[in-house]
Amino acid sequence: EPEVPSFTASRVSQYSCQRKTTLNNFNKKFTDAFEIMAENYEFKENEIFSLEFLRAASVLKFLPFPVVRMKDIQGLPCMGDQVRDIIEEIIEEGESSRVKDVLNDERYKSFKQFTSVFGVGVKTSEKWYRMGLRTLEEVTAEKTLKLSKMQKVGLLYYEDLVSCVSEAEADAVGLVVKKAVHTFLPDALVTLTGGFRRGKKIGHDIDFLITNPGPREDDDLLHKGLLLYCDIIESTFVKEQRPSRNIDAMDNFQKCFAILKLYQPRVDSESQSTSEEFDMAEVKDWKAIRVDLVISPFEQYAYALLGWTGSKQFGRDLRRYANHEKKMMLDNHALYDRRKRIFLKAGSEEEIFAHLGLDYVEPWERNA
Ligand code: GTP
Ligand code: MN
Ligand code: MN
Repeated sequence: EPEVPSFTASRVSQYSCQRKTTLNNFNKKFTDAFEIMAENYEFKENEIFSLEFLRAASVLKFLPFPVVRMKDIQGLPCMGDQVRDIIEEIIEEGESSRVKDVLNDERYKSFKQFTSVFGVGVKTSEKWYRMGLRTLEEVTAEKTLKLSKMQKVGLLYYEDLVSCVSEAEADAVGLVVKKAVHTFLPDALVTLTGGFRRGKKIGHDIDFLITNPGPREDDDLLHKGLLLYCDIIESTFVKEQRPSRNIDAMDNFQKCFAILKLYQPRVDSESQSTSEEFDMAEVKDWKAIRVDLVISPFEQYAYALLGWTGSKQFGRDLRRYANHEKKMMLDNHALYDRRKRIFLKAGSEEEIFAHLGLDYVEPWERNA
């Protein structure tokens, strides 16, 4: 029997922060299915079921072999009945009828379209759906709708924003952002975080963490106009604030969910340069790109970097692990030891893992 020698199912931790999950996923067939189920439950605001599927997906992403029979998942954590049923269906039929039902469900299809717009979440989708709207065409045709500024630009740049960001675009934007930041703060550190730091080749946005060593002079960096659209969230962090217990809580950094105009030299092809010459002059030579900029105080940089590198599931499990296994509270700002009643300082991600008694997990192994 072709067993992977060093693998013991019962030793797999229920926490993804105790597993090393690269982008090499042997079980995409299953994890894609689980992510659709999780998303559908998220649309129904059923967080428990949604998390159940996300945790199961995360465990299968870690498995060093493809699951081909039910015996392969024996002893693994996070394999509840709902999850097992779908695995069984996929093994036997090649696909899951429950997942197919979700993909064909009218509500799911509408929510999927609505939430693909920047600035539209489950709450807004719910509202639109209740009004009888089903497609984005219907949304844009409904002139009585009061759209937020974010949603308006979300629709305006929709085609650019739904097409994914490539690694090359991330590099190009990185240079633009660094240059702009350095004209205001020459010593600032600008670090690529999010999926690209984990080694992903594409993303839905580009995430940057900005910090300035020395005295704080970064307060109005985001107000200095380098952006096409920018929704600035002011910092709400108060000194010595204890980390929140909520594993999905937002942080309090000054941040900006922006849309950047990335100029791309147009590649001319011979055939287009004859009769269409006038039209060609109108061709857009830029692409709208979603960029998240987060400004962290230097002392909180390691925590901010860990939090914004993700994955989301990895971050959730780090907080859950800290809370339940170590009686500590972790968020993107700090780590607080509830027993000793002290904040644990860290200058690097390695130190945070050490405080938590965890083996270090590299960014590219955090694709949980
Ligand atoms: P893609 O962008 O889809 O390629 O994946 P990604 O992993 O980069 O996802 P995303 O940009 O949504 O988030 C990156 C990390 O930042 C994740 O760990 C998120 O949990 C975290 N994050 C994103 N937005 C927020 C936020 O508003 N508050 C907090 N606290 N964390 C956030
Ligand atoms: Mn991202
Ligand atoms: Mn982001």
